[in-house]
Amino acid sequence: MLTFVPIILGYFMLAAVRAGPLPPLPPPQRRAAALAANQLSSLVPFTQFARAAYCEPKKIEGWNCGQACDALPGFEATLTGGDGDAEQFFFVGHWPQENTVVVAHQGTDPLKLQAVLTDLEVLRGPLDSALFPGIPDNVSVHTGFRDQHAIASKQILTEVQRLLATTGSSKVITVGHSLGGAVAMLSALSMRLQLPADVSVTSTTFGAPRVGDQEFANFFDSKIPDFRRVNNEKDLVPIIPGRFLGFVHPQGEIHLLSKGRAVACAGQDNANDAQCQIETVPNVLEGNILNHLGPYEGVFIGTPFCN
Ligand SMILES: *[C@@H]1O[C@H](CO)[C@@H](O)[C@H](O)[C@H]1NC(C)=O
Repeated sequence: MLTFVPIILGYFMLAAVRAGPLPPLPPPQRRAAALAANQLSSLVPFTQFARAAYCEPKKIEGWNCGQACDALPGFEATLTGGDGDAEQFFFVGHWPQENTVVVAHQGTDPLKLQAVLTDLEVLRGPLDSALFPGIPDNVSVHTGFRDQHAIASKQILTEVQRLLATTGSSKVITVGHSLGGAVAMLSALSMRLQLPADVSVTSTTFGAPRVGDQEFANFFDSKIPDFRRVNNEKDLVPIIPGRFLGFVHPQGEIHLLSKGRAVACAGQDNANDAQCQIETVPNVLEGNILNHLGPYEGVFIGTPFCN
């Protein structure tokens, strides 16, 4: 302890010598804004859709997946797919209350995801311009997420187009938790680039990891400006893969602090505000993987919660 004393003293002496005109103040940081109760409750249906995405397709087809399906009465799932293993489950359907087409993507085992995303060899690569027409050449994303999205992308787009035509809806939202959140982001971007401009396309994710680089985040923000990514308490998945590997989140962070308390964080990957994810979980060792599962305003998301 004593060895620090000269260092600390030295620091204050240096500060004294340097005292003079004050340096200009840094630009004001926009503070995280508390979410109102109605903004928080507006997230709940999407939490339930993301939860339902973990359930067996046969339960989704009959909209009989337990609490998640019960919370969203009247939803009609018209396409299901995936095997829950090499290809994550997904479903597409029509939500009559909001006259919206919903696309939901399943996540994966959080411990497996953590192992994959903290691997320093994590790879980024370009997106396929057949699925992402007009994507700038310099955009790169995690190749595992890219390849997972590509599997069912065309089939999902075709079903979304059919539902838009038959229901008269002009709104599409993609949702997902964990890996499913990453796929939901790519799914929204791919559809935004292929659906007519008068169809609104947005996305809400829960506990999603970083998907791509700075160019990806910028391009995504320009196309999906009302994106929301909801992070829970000390979940570590939203801070991987690390920024030091060149990964950047788009804007839209909502950080749940405790039941009934959440903030909307300014900017793409807010590293300045103590209430946002990066300051809350500065490294994976300070995170808590159990917070990845929830509770998201009282709702847990994952394979055990399909009842
Ligand atoms: C990436 O490409 C876009 C579109 O072509 C361009 O606007 C942007 O400046 C590029 N970024 C870099 C870092 O070159």
